[in-house]
Amino acid sequence: MKKTIDEHAARFSEAASSYDDEQDSTEYLACADLVVENAAPDADDVVLDLGTGTGAIALALAPDAKRVVGRDISEGMLAEARSKAEAAGIDNVEFGEGSFREPNYDGQVDIVTSNFAMHHLSDDEKREAIAIIADLDPDRFVLGDVMFFGEPDPDEPFYSPEVDDPATVGLLVDSLTDEGFVLTGVERVHEQVGVLVAERYGTASERVSIPTEDE
Ligand SMILES: C[S@@+](CC[C@H](N)C(=O)[O-])C[C@H]1O[C@@H](n2cnc3c(N)ncnc32)[C@H](O)[C@@H]1O
Repeated sequence: MKKTIDEHAARFSEAASSYDDEQDSTEYLACADLVVENAAPDADDVVLDLGTGTGAIALALAPDAKRVVGRDISEGMLAEARSKAEAAGIDNVEFGEGSFREPNYDGQVDIVTSNFAMHHLSDDEKREAIAIIADLDPDRFVLGDVMFFGEPDPDEPFYSPEVDDPATVGLLVDSLTDEGFVLTGVERVHEQVGVLVAERYGTASERVSIPTEDE
């Protein structure tokens, strides 16, 4: 992580009131649409949206889901999300403080989503976050983010190198499969932006753990 959690939270809280107006890039909009489309909750599904920000994904999914839980480290972003939910009359969504490391939620989770947030973590922290998400035992995890499909062009980064730390698609796929997810979709929006759809089958006790080389 190139900034501490508190630094990221302060940075996003400061920009919260103008955040939505600035999210107009084709890649961000396409990525968000793909996350919503691939999450596809049923009426009895509970969705956990990590790094929910002003609720772009959470609020789009709420009409189809039983309940949506949005978690973020920035109080300013969460306040925007809550006021959008209230203005839209959406009452099956709950926004609260929580991070990838400590989602602050231990209820039913059928689908986890995260859009344009995990790239703030270092690669080790992304692996840890994916393990924590796996422990929540969702059927599906839909990750939209800045990620490298090839060698990123240093002259044209889609991200801010001083605050962002995107991973390669390979690292993300390895981390997901190491935690028992099966990759069922890869959507390449741009050389540096994509959506991964990862699913887990069966109940936790039915899943067989993959032995490591030492076992
Ligand atoms: C670029 S915004 C994306 C917000 C939203 N998901 C969207 O699609 O518009 C990134 C969000 O991730 C949050 N964030 C950064 N680090 C985080 C962490 N470790 N845990 C949870 N949220 C985090 C920030 O506060 C910010 O609201």
